[in-house]
Amino acid sequence: MSDTASEIKRRRTFAIISHPDAGKTTLTEKFLLYGGAINLAGSVKGKATARHAVSDWMEIEKERGISVTSSVLQFEYDGYCINILDTPGHQDFSEDTYRTLMAADSAVMVIDASKGVEAQTRKLFKVCVMRHIPIFTFINKMDRDALDTFDLLDDIEKELGIATCPVNWPIGSGKGFKGVYDRNEKCVICYSDTEKGTKEGIATRIPVSDDKLLRETIGDEAADKLLEELELLDGAGADFDLDTVQKGDLTPVCFGSALTNFGVEIFLQHFLNMATTPLPRKADIGEIDPLSEDFSAFVFKIQANMNKAHRDRIAFIRICSGRYDASAEVRHVQGNKVMRLSQPQQIMADDRKILTEAYAGDIIGVFDPGIFSIGDTLCAPKSNFKYEGIPTFAPEHFARVRQIDTMKRKQFVKGIEQIAQEGAIQIFQELNSGLEEIIVGVVGVLQFDVLKYRLENEYNVEIKLENLPYEHIRWIENYQDFDIEKLSGTSDMKKVKDMKGRPLLIFINAWSVGMTEERNKGLILTEFSRN
Ligand code: G4P
Repeated sequence: MSDTASEIKRRRTFAIISHPDAGKTTLTEKFLLYGGAINLAGSVKGKATARHAVSDWMEIEKERGISVTSSVLQFEYDGYCINILDTPGHQDFSEDTYRTLMAADSAVMVIDASKGVEAQTRKLFKVCVMRHIPIFTFINKMDRDALDTFDLLDDIEKELGIATCPVNWPIGSGKGFKGVYDRNEKCVICYSDTEKGTKEGIATRIPVSDDKLLRETIGDEAADKLLEELELLDGAGADFDLDTVQKGDLTPVCFGSALTNFGVEIFLQHFLNMATTPLPRKADIGEIDPLSEDFSAFVFKIQANMNKAHRDRIAFIRICSGRYDASAEVRHVQGNKVMRLSQPQQIMADDRKILTEAYAGDIIGVFDPGIFSIGDTLCAPKSNFKYEGIPTFAPEHFARVRQIDTMKRKQFVKGIEQIAQEGAIQIFQELNSGLEEIIVGVVGVLQFDVLKYRLENEYNVEIKLENLPYEHIRWIENYQDFDIEKLSGTSDMKKVKDMKGRPLLIFINAWSVGMTEERNKGLILTEFSRN
């Protein structure tokens, strides 16, 4: 095997998805701790600052240069080279959060054991399903009172429509948490509350066949309950099948407590065993083999620098094949140009490192003088192909935008179009109107503030935003088959078009979507659009 191939094969690139507060940051910290990337938990990112930043716009601006919301963490563990993609949460949840998932080969889903599946997880999960990537579940906070284990699994299956396969099984929760039963090894791993920031202690393992020792250790009540649940589980649960896991139809589930450091390393080991190496991606010339020697990559995110003095942008690039050599030239396919990438860097939590080489599976940031767009392909100079585009995801908040000074029409249109091109917002127009009436759609409300701030500061245009009550937008996949003017919808529906002139429908109520489909036989409405 070539050096490039062996480097690629040891890479695992995944995103962590969860609802805010489920424990994503804590779990990430513990992963890094095992990888030796940090010495003390709590140092991944200034969490207190990060929290503050999302509620304070000026802070966001300050942070953007080395944004906490867009870091990629790379660390080594047991011969693997692991890339964790952070999916921004809280108020700065945006389309970028979805796009980040386009760059991952698998996802870790963190669920709070006392809450089950929550809203943000549900949204992010949909993107994983669309991509058919494997999803590994960590049910966290078992040291707190948890929902019934069967109910939790049921919740995942019903809410998300994915089969579950518990890798281990919890014994009690909260004050009565005794540990987990490892189904593979048929033993109980006893809970030990190791100190914050230290590695998982050597946990006591008791074979479940040693009934006496089991009862002595966890007590009669817990032992009886465990044996009863295991009987039920063996009869009811889905069988483990790696193929189904890798297609994203079955999620292996582990239980633990990230805070007290229990079950994290077991989860990491299981995860690394089952997760895929960098996946091949579709291009217009067919699938590209990640192990090929030739470099190729695509841009999945562009981050504008909010500092007026530095109007540069950072393009985030996912390497899809071969080895990237910083001294070599690459082809920017969409720009039809052969060039050397400027300031290639690894974007870490709190710092950036200029890099000289990287491999398929890695994420790099490069300086963008304004030439890249989301979805653009980079490849070896001798190649020329385009990766499949990144879909546009449905915004959930809409507002009508008006400029205050009508004399600044040109700057307004230029600004809003550029910001839309970066992918921070989406713009729509009423079906039969021009650019005088612009409707802006965003995935997270914070993007409205970003828009207002940037138009004022970068384009010197003041705007007024009038919130609209729409929450659901649908692209019409087969719009060529319909006369959109005549489409009969519900009274809360509005017909709009996007910048490419494609018609879309926006609705106030969720049920109107189904109703409109029913009223127009054959109409196919989708929540994201393939570009
Ligand atoms: P997030 O990134 O998903 O938003 O969650 P984060 O890790 O920040 O965790 C949210 C809160 O939940 C934190 O408490 C964290 O300490 C706690 N937590 C995470 N994992 C566990 C766990 O396994 N058990 C228990 N009991 N708590 C857990 P906080 O008080 O909001 O923050 P902090 O003051 O501890 O930093």
